[in-house]
Amino acid sequence: EDLDSLEDRPPVLTIMGHVDHGKTTLLDYIRTSKVVASEAGGITQGIGAYVVPVPIDGKLQTCVFLDTPGHEAFGAMRARGARVTDIAIIVVAADDGIRPQTNEAIAHAKAAGVPIVIAINKIDRDGANPDRVMEELASIGLMPESWGGDVPVVQVSALKGDNVDELLETVMLVAELQDLKANPHRSAKGTVIEAGLDKFKGPVATFIVQNGTLKKGDIIVSGAASGKVRALFDEKGNLVDQAGPSIPVQVIGLDNVPIAGDEFEVVSSLDAAREKAEACAES
Ligand code: GTP
Ligand code: NA
Ligand code: MG
Repeated sequence: EDLDSLEDRPPVLTIMGHVDHGKTTLLDYIRTSKVVASEAGGITQGIGAYVVPVPIDGKLQTCVFLDTPGHEAFGAMRARGARVTDIAIIVVAADDGIRPQTNEAIAHAKAAGVPIVIAINKIDRDGANPDRVMEELASIGLMPESWGGDVPVVQVSALKGDNVDELLETVMLVAELQDLKANPHRSAKGTVIEAGLDKFKGPVATFIVQNGTLKKGDIIVSGAASGKVRALFDEKGNLVDQAGPSIPVQVIGLDNVPIAGDEFEVVSSLDAAREKAEACAES
């Protein structure tokens, strides 16, 4: 690796926690969007990936947020979200406390070796008891910084936006310590975060690029799926020419649906891609 080509890359921040503790609402506030209102049954069912310019100290900094579901059925998505992230933001509702999927999310973050920032949410609610959540955190070994430990904890209201700026500043401080770099000048590698079959587009995959830059026309392989990138779309569905480090992008051109969680890479020729894909399909 040519160290001179390493450049700063945006942090990837995954929001995890128990069902309905306010993950998507938090992201809606940060993005000034209204995803929650449009969700069937109010339940997130997939990983959402968003590129967000976040104002930090008066400057806009690009951050990539992954929203994960809290429903217990979607543990694999939480695990995947933890594996591709730089920091796990664990949301805990102040009126509900630490619940099974809170613990599960914390375990995924620890297994992935990523730092944890806790957002105690819904502090605007009548039944909110943030001090009890602090005690619960301490009791499972996540000692809050304000109690002399090393876990940053910020009390927020995702609905009203209270202290969300403080949460973002806290997260960015942790990200700065990580000194996140990648080489945008080489061929792309990364992870499949979602994949499926679209009626019109065929196999569709959302990749998160972890190193290099993915471009239209690149030959890609992921597990038993391979092909040439026919089109790239950003999260809003806009056609884009390329996606650099940390950036999520929807890809069409694969001959099969890849497996979410698998890696992808760019190779030099379609023959090389097919060879790799066939070797994978046989093993
Ligand atoms: P899943 O993705 O299904 O796990 O849920 P989630 O964690 O994304 O929670 P979501 O954002 O869907 O919010 C669940 C409910 O809590 C919604 O009705 C929100 O309006 C409400 N809610 C979220 N944050 C707050 C908050 O800070 N205060 C109050 N009062 N309500 C909130
Ligand atoms: Na919900
Ligand atoms: Mg949600």
